[in-house]
Amino acid sequence: MPTQNVLSPYTLSGLTLKNRMVMAPMTRSRSNNEGNVATTLTAEYYAQRATAGLLITEGTFVSPKAVGFINVPAIYSEAQVEGWKLVTQAVHAQDGKIFAQLWHVGRMSHPDLHDGELPHAPSAINPHAKAYTHQGFLDTVTPKEMTVEDIAQTVQDFKQAAANAEAAGFDGIELHAANGYLFHQFFVGASNQRTDQYGGSIENRARILFETLDALNGVIDYSRVGIRFNPSTHNLFGMVIDEQTIPTFEYIIKRLNEYGLAYIHLTEPFTDVSEVPFAAPEVASHFRPLYNGTLIINKGFTKEKADRVIAEGNADLVAFGVPFIANPDLVKRFAIDAPLNEPDPQTFYTTGTLGYIDYPALSA
Ligand SMILES: Cc1cc2nc3c(=O)[nH]c(=O)nc-3n(C[C@H](O)[C@H](O)[C@H](O)COP(=O)(O)O)c2cc1C
Repeated sequence: MPTQNVLSPYTLSGLTLKNRMVMAPMTRSRSNNEGNVATTLTAEYYAQRATAGLLITEGTFVSPKAVGFINVPAIYSEAQVEGWKLVTQAVHAQDGKIFAQLWHVGRMSHPDLHDGELPHAPSAINPHAKAYTHQGFLDTVTPKEMTVEDIAQTVQDFKQAAANAEAAGFDGIELHAANGYLFHQFFVGASNQRTDQYGGSIENRARILFETLDALNGVIDYSRVGIRFNPSTHNLFGMVIDEQTIPTFEYIIKRLNEYGLAYIHLTEPFTDVSEVPFAAPEVASHFRPLYNGTLIINKGFTKEKADRVIAEGNADLVAFGVPFIANPDLVKRFAIDAPLNEPDPQTFYTTGTLGYIDYPALSA
C-alpha cells in the first residue's frame, strides 16, 4: 500500500493526479483588457503551478450579470473561451490538470459594474460588503430580487459556461457555491427571504443548485463537475448562520451522493465560529460521513496538517490558496521540506506581473 499522504497520487474520475495537492481558486484580476480575456500572462501563472495534482482557476464569470469584480477573466464570450485555451494548453503541456471555477456573485456587486442597474440576488437585502470596481472598493447596495425568469436565465448561463469550459479544454468545472456568492445567498436565511419555490424550506433554498446540475446533464459529465461550499461562513460576506444553515448544507451534500460528481470542495470556517450557535466548527469531520465521493478540504493547511487530515480519513485532497500564490513550486518545497516564500497581499489583486509570476522557484 502506498503511503496516503498529500504527496501521494490520486485518481479523480479517471484523471491521474500526481499528488493530492490542489491549488485553490483565487481571483487575481490580471485581465485588465478589452473583454476581460485570459492572456499568455494568465497561462504562464497557471503553468508555473502545474505540478499541483489539480489546479482550480480563479472564479470566472458565467455572464455579464454575474460580474462583481474588475479585471477577472470571464467565460461567456468567444474571445474569453479563446483566452482560456491558452491556459488549458499551457497546463496540459506540463502534464497538469485544471478545472474552471464558474462564478456568479449575486448581490456582492455594484451598479457601476452593471451600467447603473442593480445586481441580482434572491432577495432585496444589502450584504453591506464591498465590491471591487474601477473606482476601487465600493459599498454594495440593495440588490434587485430575482424573478423566476431571472433564475431560469441564470441556470442557462451556467449551462452555457460549462459548455464553454469544455470548449476551452478544461478537465472539468467547479460550481462556486461558497463565500456568500449567488448560490450561497439562496441557501441562507439572512439573504433569502423568498416566499416562492426558491425560499422557505431547505429543499426550496437548495433548488437553484439542483436545477443548475440538472441543466448540466448532457453538457458535461457529472464526474467532471465539482462544487465548492463554505458552510460555516458567519458575519462575513453578509452571511449569518442560523438553525437552518448547517442542516441545509447537510441536505445538499447528502443529496449530491446521487450525482457521481468529481468532488465536493469544502472550506473550514474563515472566522472562529467555535462559540457561534448552530455552526459546524470542524467542517471536514462534520461532513465527511455524509458524502461518499471525493472530498477536498481547504483553509489554513500546512503539509503536516494536510497529511493528518488525509490519514484521519476526513479528506481525500487538500487545497492550498495563499501558499500557491507565493510558491509556484509548492509541491517540490513540500517534498523536500524547503522553506516557503512569503506572500505579498498588496499584489493579490493588482494588475501586471508583479506578485503574479515573479515569485521565485527553488533553483535546480
Ligand atoms: C487573493 C485571493 C483570491 C481568492 N479568490 C477566490 C475565488 O475566486 N474563488 C474562491 O472560491 N475562493 C477564493 N479565495 C479563497 C481561497 O480559495 C481559499 O479558500 C483561501 O485562500 C483559504 O485557503 P488558504 O488558507 O490555503 O490560503 C481567494 C483567496 C485569496 C487569498
